[in-house]
Amino acid sequence: IRLAVLFGGRSGEHDVSRRSAASILAHLDRDVYDVTEVLIERDGGWQVDGTPVSFSGALDVLGRQDVVFPALHGPFGEDGTVQSMLEWLDVAYVGNGVFASAAGMDKAITKRLLTAEGLRVADGVSLGPDDELSEADRERFGLPVFVKPARAGSSLGVSKVDHWSELPAAIALARESDSRILVERAIRGREIDVAVLQYPDGRIEAGPPLEIKVSSAAFFDYDAKYEGGAVFDIPARLDPETTQRLQDRAVQAFRALDCRGLLRVDFFLPEVGTGAESGAAGVAVRGSTAWTGDPSEPVLNEVNTFPGFTAASQYPQIWARAGVEFSALLDILISGARK
Ligand code: DAL
Ligand code: MG
Repeated sequence: IRLAVLFGGRSGEHDVSRRSAASILAHLDRDVYDVTEVLIERDGGWQVDGTPVSFSGALDVLGRQDVVFPALHGPFGEDGTVQSMLEWLDVAYVGNGVFASAAGMDKAITKRLLTAEGLRVADGVSLGPDDELSEADRERFGLPVFVKPARAGSSLGVSKVDHWSELPAAIALARESDSRILVERAIRGREIDVAVLQYPDGRIEAGPPLEIKVSSAAFFDYDAKYEGGAVFDIPARLDPETTQRLQDRAVQAFRALDCRGLLRVDFFLPEVGTGAESGAAGVAVRGSTAWTGDPSEPVLNEVNTFPGFTAASQYPQIWARAGVEFSALLDILISGARK
């Protein structure tokens, strides 16, 4: 099978993508796959197996593959732009298509789609380049709040604001990544990730929930993610009903966003009885099988249409714990690749 692994990219997650790709490349069975490495440089230049090529040269190489594996994180890679290019090339590719990638990259759009599905998300507002946070929103959210770029990953541009005096700097930082930003009420509680995997026959499975235990940082930020500032508990210590509920919600999110192949869904389990639960908004949709107003309902924080894929990242770790080793996971995803 001729397989191109596409990595790097123009986003702030360039280095993370390189690390994901390095793990993928190390775990591919070379008796099965004839592998070509396609790197997108930070400035948008292209390399094929280490040699600089023109954009049209890169397209030629990609178009000749049986499957392309986009191992890209963030804008210009995980957001549907590269997926659209692969659609034009009429080549099968791993993972999410144009719509799911674009919708999943945008935290504000994701929240709207998931709310419509009856899933519970944190109360928040989306601000355009000239918008300010209203007094009413400040009062409703209280402190702390999180400020995030609408479209970014790995917590780049995200800050926790404990005092309103810190808000302007937090907004300015988020706007360096995206003109559209999100201000959200912080949810106090446990942070749990659920991995969803679709098998080539279409079957969708959610893995054992993973709990993130942040040791030093104020939240699971870039350094905690990549400099060893967190430990994972797999499976998270949860009662069977909570585990089932998290898995069901993750699969609902996968379907709501029209995902394919894979998705990592990141939740907070709110502390009930501390007032933290009132910080979560979202409507209890009539007739929905999702949230019906129960304060212990998990709050869906965000989704990742191409989650971190280093051997130490949550997604591969979850599946390894479920008995699907890294190489087998790659085989499943590649077999499920579609045009
Ligand atoms: N955006 C990073 C790669 C993650 O969510 O794992
Ligand atoms: Mg994330």
